[in-house]
Amino acid sequence: MIQPDLISKTISFVKTKLENAEGGHDWFHIERVYRNAILISKDEVCDTTIVQLGALLHDIADSKFHDGDEAIGPKIAREFLLAEKVNEEIINQVIKIIENISYKGGNFDKQFTSIELDIVQDADRLDAIGAIGIARMFNYGGFKNRLIYDPQIAPNLKMTKEEYKTNSSPTINHFYEKLFLLKDKMNTETGKEIAKKRHRYMEGFLSQFYAEWEGEK
Ligand code: ADP
Ligand code: NI
Repeated sequence: MIQPDLISKTISFVKTKLENAEGGHDWFHIERVYRNAILISKDEVCDTTIVQLGALLHDIADSKFHDGDEAIGPKIAREFLLAEKVNEEIINQVIKIIENISYKGGNFDKQFTSIELDIVQDADRLDAIGAIGIARMFNYGGFKNRLIYDPQIAPNLKMTKEEYKTNSSPTINHFYEKLFLLKDKMNTETGKEIAKKRHRYMEGFLSQFYAEWEGEK
């Protein structure tokens, strides 16, 4: 039995936890992922409680801001759900989502798959593409004090996990290094459809960007 106010309690918990989070991973990112996850879940046979909890808790503590500690997010989420007396099986499913969702950590546990993970992962990836994805990307690049674009520096398409973390190539390169790759990584049909639209939008943005870079003719 799931208590009726579990989701609203989780929302409050996440909002408080993320009060000082940076712009790319703040409460509004969670809210967008949560909405998209619910949207996608309507077309799938799945446990919507697990989807909602997974979406709400997926970025509760990013290892990037905790000395690379991959265990911190799952730990905080488990403690919260245990305190709320959520059923052990549901907790385990939610924790698996948090552990396996990340683009880089996509092979954290190669054995684990679930429709709920597929849905939340798609929802998270959708927030990295399209207009929002572009905004988040430039926000991140600015935070890292990177160039917007440098025609001399080609994107590095063969980055290792370590290089990806420390790479300092201009922000535009990130389109090729990550954003354009996401459309083919979507799990669900609904996710694929939305991703296709957002992908086209990014292509349009880039061609306009290059045209403006060259100067008005
Ligand atoms: P996620 O939260 O999906 O694991 P990240 O933490 O890697 O993704 O990135 C958060 C946001 O910052 C995403 O929108 C991503 O595209 C963007 N970002 C990550 N790395 C870079 C980078 N090297 N250059 C520009 N944007 C980046
Ligand atoms: Ni996320």
